[in-house]
Amino acid sequence: PQVIFIDPRGAQFEVDVEVGENVMQAAVDNMIDGILGECGGVLSCATCHCYVDPDWQDKLPPASEQEEDMLDMVVDPKENSRLSCQLEMTEELDGLVVRLPRSQF
Ligand code: FES
Repeated sequence: PQVIFIDPRGAQFEVDVEVGENVMQAAVDNMIDGILGECGGVLSCATCHCYVDPDWQDKLPPASEQEEDMLDMVVDPKENSRLSCQLEMTEELDGLVVRLPRSQF
């Protein structure tokens, strides 16, 4: 399956992601600017913040309480904000569209 990252200027990057891998790791492995993932995916940094395309929002499991708490700390949170380390790839998510924030700080 693939994830499509869109940067703030509208450039698109299609990345292959293994089922079971998380979106933050895929972004970091493919050197997608804008996703840092400093804590390695353990919900303690929030530098993997992204915006999930509204068409995909309800196809994802809802954020845990811990994720919600971390989302309170991101720059420019929106209703479709998620932490990409918490988004685990499945076959059903093939074509998932994720927008990158302008900044993680
Ligand atoms: Fe640190 Fe997602 S990588 S919270």
